[in-house]
Amino acid sequence: MATLTCLAAARFWAAKEAGWNVRERGLPAQNPDLVLYLSEEGHGCIRKAAEMLGLGSNALHLIPTDSTFRMDVAALRAAIQADRAAGRQPFCVAASAGTVNTGAIDPLSLLADMCTEESLWLHVDGAYGAVGKVDPHVAPLFEGIERAQSVAIDPHKWLSVPVECGCALVSDKHLLRETFSLVPPYLQLEEGKGFANLPWFSEYGFQQTRGFRALKVWMVLQTTGRQGLVQRIQHHNVLAQQLASLIDAASDFERVAPVTLSIVCFRYLPLELQGDEEGIEQMNRALVPLLQLTGEAFLTSTVLHGQFALRACILHDATTPDDLRILLESVRHAAALSRKQEQ
Ligand SMILES: Cc1ncc(COP(=O)(O)O)c(C=O)c1O
Repeated sequence: MATLTCLAAARFWAAKEAGWNVRERGLPAQNPDLVLYLSEEGHGCIRKAAEMLGLGSNALHLIPTDSTFRMDVAALRAAIQADRAAGRQPFCVAASAGTVNTGAIDPLSLLADMCTEESLWLHVDGAYGAVGKVDPHVAPLFEGIERAQSVAIDPHKWLSVPVECGCALVSDKHLLRETFSLVPPYLQLEEGKGFANLPWFSEYGFQQTRGFRALKVWMVLQTTGRQGLVQRIQHHNVLAQQLASLIDAASDFERVAPVTLSIVCFRYLPLELQGDEEGIEQMNRALVPLLQLTGEAFLTSTVLHGQFALRACILHDATTPDDLRILLESVRHAAALSRKQEQ
């Protein structure tokens, strides 16, 4: 919902820049196709939002990533030029500050420069990773996020706010209000009187009646405190580096992506399967559900540049270095179980 809110504002802005009001006219066929850029590692919520906003998933131009899973800026530049030459209207770059797969952070500063030069809206999907910025060791990687026109954050991820709570940050509050405001007569107030001067959140998003989700965010921030938050996030990032070291040191594991924040992607790679890509994938695919059912550890899986991988995402307050060792042991056990089941 945060993404949808942000991209609705971006769409409203793009139409306004091009001289039409999308709230009145929708997306008329005679206007050039709007184009939105996303890296191949970008989250599917951007696509869902583009579909719901009537842009169509064809409006998404997927930009390849480099070997570290960050958006390739040169490829983005070339795509923008090609789209303009073909008569389309690039309007937004949806960057990631912590991709769902590996936690990669797109080069936000370069993207912010490019969006300024090209008059594009910069949206940052920081659903998982944006709050990672409070860790001083990784903070420089987020440089440029403050220049984004919109940022989506999920407090129910790294802030441990109870599910669900999405947060949309839009730099131009007047534009956001223009995007959504519709106050029926029975809710209208007289300027300067009574409650009239409060911000009415129903004017800044699709919902009119809405729950007080912000309360739980506020409470978490109050109880954790800034210092507590920094400590927790630093702790998770350190644990991820420790897990990476354990994997790198083990002869039966292989790490398959750099560790930026608290996500570690790897494969179980026993000696007898080395060199047998099909066998490795089969084994890793088979062990995931078995591991999940043990209740000892919970891993998800993903596909990185075409390769199946196990994915550990460390977000829980109580996780300790011991859990990391247990995790790798549990993967070995699940693999052994899967071998047994095959026989
Ligand atoms: C980068 C990123 N964006 C968006 C989402 C979607 O968030 P949700 O599942 O809360 O809708 C996720 C979920 O993992 C994510 O990691």
